[in-house]
Amino acid sequence: MALLKNDMANKKTHIIALYPGDGIGPEVTAQAVRVLETLETAADFRLEKTTFPWGLKHWEQHGTVVPEDFIDRLRPFDAILLGAVGWPQKVPDHITLAPLVQIRQTFDQYACVRPSRLYPGLNSVLTGKGPQDIDLVVIRENSEGEYVDNGGRMKSGQDDEVAVQTAIHTRRGVERILRFGFQLARTRRNRLTMVTKSNAQRYSYVLWDEVLEQLAPEFPEITTDRQHCDAAVMNFVRNPAQFDVVVASNLFGDLLTDLGGIIGGGLGLAPSTNTNPERVYPSMFEPVHGSAPDIAGQGIANPIAAILSAALMLEHLQQAEAANQIRRAIERTLAAGYKTPDLGGKMTTEEMGSCVIDHL
Ligand code: NAI
Ligand code: MG
Repeated sequence: MALLKNDMANKKTHIIALYPGDGIGPEVTAQAVRVLETLETAADFRLEKTTFPWGLKHWEQHGTVVPEDFIDRLRPFDAILLGAVGWPQKVPDHITLAPLVQIRQTFDQYACVRPSRLYPGLNSVLTGKGPQDIDLVVIRENSEGEYVDNGGRMKSGQDDEVAVQTAIHTRRGVERILRFGFQLARTRRNRLTMVTKSNAQRYSYVLWDEVLEQLAPEFPEITTDRQHCDAAVMNFVRNPAQFDVVVASNLFGDLLTDLGGIIGGGLGLAPSTNTNPERVYPSMFEPVHGSAPDIAGQGIANPIAAILSAALMLEHLQQAEAANQIRRAIERTLAAGYKTPDLGGKMTTEEMGSCVIDHL
């Protein structure tokens, strides 16, 4: 008994905020938590979890989806594991999703990392392409670029109405996201593709070109390549095997990750991060999909995107072996033909969770 206690005390502890959210969010998060708890029993770390029941229920009771001090309450955590939020028939999306934007901005989560990997056992939407062709990661710049709220409108409703919205690209912002990309490429296949549109936008994306050129010599083992976004979308379909790590601005990253999601097997499988690489603030991990009100409560949502998001969280917490264990379990589960309805099967959310646990 004394030994056991001692063992517990020696384990490294990570403190995790769980934000299951709405719709299928809590359903898929529950399975991710089961997987994490199974791993923990044999691992040399433990997770101390606190659940925040924010979202629609909070709205019905208090008139807001999160408490006023929600940012301060999240700040002490090492990481946030999010399910999904939103229920457009009950609360407007701009209200439910506003806290997520605030979390990303306040915690300077400037790297949105979205791996896209077709697991063996799944059919590709791309004819003739299989798992050997599709294993890439898109890193989307998450803090500036085209999505900065910067502009205005004048002469509203008149024939000569004018709307102006100007993107903001800073040298610091471009440099830090490219550096993050180079470092990730080092852990993978040493290839980085930067996606811009510098042939048409000669100020902002030419800055990207220049920063890439300046940084590349610091990473001599990485092969770099530049593509314009229009060519890149074609190549994602025509020859996805050429991509390893792809770094793109906010807008282009947004577009590329929907495409990456579908060639990787669909929304039920696609994980995502909102990373603060310096670890000054908590990073947030979440499936790419939303709260799926159309299937909520039926117990048929695919929990794999949420489970893979938990794996990305472990990787960020420097528990790479545990993260790989999860990925190998999912690989074996899918290769054995286990499928939820979105993949053409009949399993429930919980059965899929159990299946991944059995394959750990
Ligand atoms: P959605 O991703 O929730 O669903 C799109 C379609 O994919 C639906 O038919 C859904 O049933 C299916 N789907 C999604 N995840 C699935 C899973 N794990 N297993 C099986 N099928 C799955 O997108 P939608 O319907 O446009 O948005 C619903 C709500 O989610 C909205 O309120 C939206 O604003 C919100 N949303 C929230 C996000 C977040 O929390 N980060 C991200 C995207 C949307
Ligand atoms: Mg999008």
